[in-house]
Amino acid sequence: MPREIRITPSILNANFDDLTGEIRRIAAVSDLVHLDVMDNIFVPNFTFDFAAASEIIKESALPVDAHLMVADADTIAPQYAEIGCASVTLHVEATKNVPATLRAIRSAGARAGLAVKPGTDISDYADVVDLVDMFLIMTVEPGFGGQSFMKEMMEKVTKTRKIIGDRPIWLQVDGGISPETIEIATEAGADTFVAGSAVFRAPDPAQMVVTLRALANAVK
Ligand code: DX5
Ligand code: ZN
Repeated sequence: MPREIRITPSILNANFDDLTGEIRRIAAVSDLVHLDVMDNIFVPNFTFDFAAASEIIKESALPVDAHLMVADADTIAPQYAEIGCASVTLHVEATKNVPATLRAIRSAGARAGLAVKPGTDISDYADVVDLVDMFLIMTVEPGFGGQSFMKEMMEKVTKTRKIIGDRPIWLQVDGGISPETIEIATEAGADTFVAGSAVFRAPDPAQMVVTLRALANAVK
């Protein structure tokens, strides 16, 4: 079955003084915009509080793919779904009740995403597969943009693809995705790609999105 490729640029390395404008620059060629929410507890970095994130989501020219790197995901994730994110991804390491929170995201009208850090096995979550709309396999330790792609995560991507089987679940990778790494990740089974610094540090961000998509499409 041919996989549809999605490019979801992360604005973590974009110009924070004009995020709405930065999203507009890549809107015509991207599927969703990836919004990294960090609370300085779950990860040693802070990006937005709920009020600031709400403003960006309200003004966004693209549907928002929220990646919550926050400690209290069970409370916070449904709130992001309620304010209109198209997709809300929580970390398994930050929730006390994975199935309940996935269900709450869906009932608030968003796609439910489940993320694992590099050290977390995905096999333990195979039993919630029917509550998941997207798996996110981190290919760096969450917290910062611009880190090196962890090729050793490709085994986990392939394992996740097997868990997904024929279901229409997206398989996202996040961290170090660039023209040098997107083909390896596609070969392993990913179909949805976060790219932060590769896109926003490129001279022409929109052209970089087009390039990444073409590289992935040539593999799948
Ligand atoms: C890291 C974030 C990523 C980050 C990716 O914790 O989740 O989304 O923006 O940045 P790059 O593409 O530069 O690795
Ligand atoms: Zn992210």
